[in-house]
Amino acid sequence: MPAQIQPVRGMNDVLPAQIGAWQHLEASARELLTEYGYEEIRVPVVEHTELFKRAIGEFTDVVEKEMYTFTDQGGESLTLRPEATAGIMRAAVSNGMLRGQRHKLWCMGPMFRHERPQKGRYRQFYQLDVEAIGFAGADVDAELIALTARLWHRLGIARVRLQINSLGTPESRGLYREQLTAYLRARESQLDADSRRRLEGNPLRILDSKNPEMQELIRAAPLLTDHLDPESREHFEALCNTLQDIGVPYEVNPRLVRGLDYYSRTVFEWITDALGAQDAVCSGGRYDGLIAQLGGEPTPGVGFAMGVDRAVELLAQAQRIPPGRTPDVYVVVNGTRAAAAGLGLVERLRNELPQRRFELNLGGGNFKTQFRRADRSGAALALIVGDDELARGVVSMKPLRQEAGQSECPIGALAAGVEAALNLRG
Ligand code: HAM
Repeated sequence: MPAQIQPVRGMNDVLPAQIGAWQHLEASARELLTEYGYEEIRVPVVEHTELFKRAIGEFTDVVEKEMYTFTDQGGESLTLRPEATAGIMRAAVSNGMLRGQRHKLWCMGPMFRHERPQKGRYRQFYQLDVEAIGFAGADVDAELIALTARLWHRLGIARVRLQINSLGTPESRGLYREQLTAYLRARESQLDADSRRRLEGNPLRILDSKNPEMQELIRAAPLLTDHLDPESREHFEALCNTLQDIGVPYEVNPRLVRGLDYYSRTVFEWITDALGAQDAVCSGGRYDGLIAQLGGEPTPGVGFAMGVDRAVELLAQAQRIPPGRTPDVYVVVNGTRAAAAGLGLVERLRNELPQRRFELNLGGGNFKTQFRRADRSGAALALIVGDDELARGVVSMKPLRQEAGQSECPIGALAAGVEAALNLRG
């Protein structure tokens, strides 16, 4: 036998037993986003590598170490998207969607990052990405956060809390960055190798380090929140006030910096203690300079992405997955004529009772086997299509979940008979 082909490390199959949770989450999100006036957009999984370099930043972990980049047959450098914001902004620019217009968009699909796989961290993972472009005020930041809070509530996910921060404008962040670099350089001997590497390209990311030996140094570092420009401070205060007004609890985390370079002002993250080391379930923020950086006319933007794999895990832990739907009716076929007639009969019933679910016994099997399958299917009612019955113009019906005898129904009145039998149960 040839060797089996293994799945790619960090890339998972979602099996039928798990799909209920995914579909429930996707359907709830789609419904909620529609209620808030967001429209779906679908963008390619592959983009020019340059897009991600320019949008996410050359010195980020994502661009430096994690991208699936390849040269295609035409010699172009392409990359599997590591996130959705860059592609959606590229689409807004390429399709002339800006010109003073505003858009509220969402997108769902797979993203790819070559990270070290562990629970909650995969190389192919799914995001629900939501973006509002053309809105400059803190009201939209607050509404996006309210939307996520409502989604957790609807899904019954309680083990999440919200952290927010402001990164200011690129100018105020530049000034802060100088101070932070000076502080860190003076303590370079205490930095770990990763942080020493980041000192040049991306010193703010050092604040994100999880290394316990670095925590004291980080705690004593100058704070970005103390260096905000007045407009960013006002924007942040407006956001905090609105969140208080609408009753969404939050913590200000002055060390929340995010791993992508395009952010300005508001950043936020929903974190959980239920997923081990991978604590972020949903993260985002404002990116007022990004569209201009991609060659579009300057347009503010704000958004977030939920890690769907992680949210599904939270759903499973909270045991909030709705049960899968079982068939209403299992159709047993007994005899050669019946086997030939069964499919046509069930197709007619499907036309007449489109809200009901029928499962036809496929692949033969004796009467006993077919009844065992009917029982396992969870159906409430079995229909027995047999040669004898067909000759008499009837079909037999047997309730499977209650003590009740078999009855016969004329084929001409079968849809009404099935519906009546199903309504009798319970
Ligand atoms: P991000 O923080 O890189 O932001 O990712 C968003 C979410 O995706 C994370 O909070 C996490 O739940 C999930 N995630 C990230 N990497 C993985 C992984 N390897 N395995 C499983 N889940 C993962 C962004 O991607 C931004 N584009 C969000 C955004 C949209 N900002 C503004 N608009």
